[in-house]
Amino acid sequence: MEDTLILAIESSCDETAASVVKNGRTILSNVISSQIELHKLYGGVVPEIASRKHIEKINQVIEEALSEAGVTLDDLDAIGVTYGPGLVGALLVGVAEAKAIAYAKKLPLVGVHHIEGHVSANYIEHPDLEPPFLCLIVSGGHTHLVIVKDYGEFEILGRTRDDAAGEAFDKVARAIGLGYPGGPKIDKLSKEGNPHAIVFPKAKIDGAPYDFSFSGVKSAVLNFINQNKMQGKEIHAADLAASFQQSVVDVLVEHTMLAAKDYQMDKVAIAGGVASNGTLRQAMKEACEKNGLKFYHPSPIFCTDNAAMIGVAAYYEYKKGTRHGWDLNAVPNLKLGER
Ligand code: KG4
Ligand code: ZN
Repeated sequence: MEDTLILAIESSCDETAASVVKNGRTILSNVISSQIELHKLYGGVVPEIASRKHIEKINQVIEEALSEAGVTLDDLDAIGVTYGPGLVGALLVGVAEAKAIAYAKKLPLVGVHHIEGHVSANYIEHPDLEPPFLCLIVSGGHTHLVIVKDYGEFEILGRTRDDAAGEAFDKVARAIGLGYPGGPKIDKLSKEGNPHAIVFPKAKIDGAPYDFSFSGVKSAVLNFINQNKMQGKEIHAADLAASFQQSVVDVLVEHTMLAAKDYQMDKVAIAGGVASNGTLRQAMKEACEKNGLKFYHPSPIFCTDNAAMIGVAAYYEYKKGTRHGWDLNAVPNLKLGER
């Protein structure tokens, strides 16, 4: 069988990324140019700056991805690109670039849903993993509990009612004074703290057992900080970070285990930036072992935004016959399962 080579482009937020993927599962290159240092100054991603930086970096990142993979544009079979959800100006850079290359080289264009990409990151290092399986998607903008019924086919069991899990990490980190992005900083600081020092609320939503809500725990952390400040008490930041993290992780694991039981799923995967969290990975691993479930997770580099995961998702879409036209546009609020 002929190899299928896909060049994938990702620019939905603050990473400019390109990757060459062979036959859907072999990553020939994975180049990521992060803008974190730039956005740190502002405490979060500034959309205008992100778009401008993508424009500056994208050609260089693609050239590196091709040369690392040892291929040229002439070797490719298709171009995959994230077209939503994300920041519109940031997405447009990748979409316009992908269209230009596809047009010039007469290649099929495959638009990819960013979250489908995150889920697909699990296929990279687990050649045995195939749908159906349960997947917890926890990123900066999304928190979904889904059954992956087939490649690119999802049944959404639960979602967040307010903040995404990563958003909660980022906001709490800011309140503690850790800076952006908060998730990795809370993860690190928590290692020095007692996760049971403070008990924070775990939201349960009546009639929606798989849904999430993180605004309550976020407010509880902010109240805790304010109350202690008013009383002139010093806050133990590591205990606070560890306790917050524990309450989020507990809810994520509990809901995932409940869904696995209710839907009789025997495989559980995690995806998205927060899936690189050490405590979540360990807790999910232990819970899966206890319940006789097989646990899958991408390496941290494939959890946070990258183009390799987009190339994997693009491959399965390509095989299914998904093709986008020259009118492909960025869709900032693209829903999961929409094409
Ligand atoms: O998936 P991602 O890279 O971008 C989106 O699609 O949103 O996720 C970014 C989010 C940020 O909120 C970041 O703070 C969080 O993932 N994150 C983490 C960790 N690494 C990244 N959260 C907790 N622990 C981590 N180690
Ligand atoms: Zn992402």
